[in-house]
Amino acid sequence: MLKLQGNDIYLALLERDHCKALWNDFEYDFDNPTEELNIGHSDEKAAGWFDEIQKLQGDVNVRLGIFLNNGSVIGDVALQNIDRVNRKCSIGMGIAKLENRSKGYGQQALKLMLHYGFQYLGLERITANTLDVNIGAQRSLEKCGFALEGRERKSVYLNAEMHDRLNYAILKEEYLMS
Ligand SMILES: CC(C)(COP(=O)(O)OP(=O)(O)OC[C@H]1O[C@@H](n2cnc3c(N)ncnc32)[C@H](O)[C@@H]1OP(=O)(O)O)[C@@H](O)C(=O)NCCC(=O)NCCS
Repeated sequence: MLKLQGNDIYLALLERDHCKALWNDFEYDFDNPTEELNIGHSDEKAAGWFDEIQKLQGDVNVRLGIFLNNGSVIGDVALQNIDRVNRKCSIGMGIAKLENRSKGYGQQALKLMLHYGFQYLGLERITANTLDVNIGAQRSLEKCGFALEGRERKSVYLNAEMHDRLNYAILKEEYLMS
């Protein structure tokens, strides 16, 4: 079974109950907004998310749960749209409860996933997108070595305002040097 061990957390496969827990636990941070609002949480939707993960897993996506060392699931992180010809993909991550954010867990999860993508899957480039107003995600990506490559101006309508979407990327050599 796939398990990537960090200091305080580990990454492992998500089972159906983990998806349900994450879906129920997710708290939206209005100070650091993301594009997806997850309006209308329900067990059916969580089950649908689990089924969708299975369809894509190991093919174009690798999605793993973020677990505290005591076994409780706190978030998920995914390599997405894996392009094996051009050796690149994007990465996305979420920690469900506000109380588990800004504790360094996201940073550990990002690093474990980058290691897996660059060293095991042989990728050369990993990209990430976030909103201009999501300072937490920007700090997290920059601290991990991602470089800001672009800004899609007024790309996302959210909370009655237009926002820029920021495009970040990290290359294998940059990851290896960090
Ligand atoms: C973005 C997210 C994944 C980061 O994970 P995290 O565990 O909270 O972040 P970490 O604790 O590893 O912090 C990494 C760095 O970012 C900074 N940071 C994290 N959240 C922050 C916030 N809300 N405001 C300012 N800085 C923040 C931390 O201070 C840390 O830098 P430091 O060590 O120099 O202090 C997490 O906050 C989250 O799930 N947010 C909601 C979903 C989301 O925004 N996903 C990303 C979409 S692109």
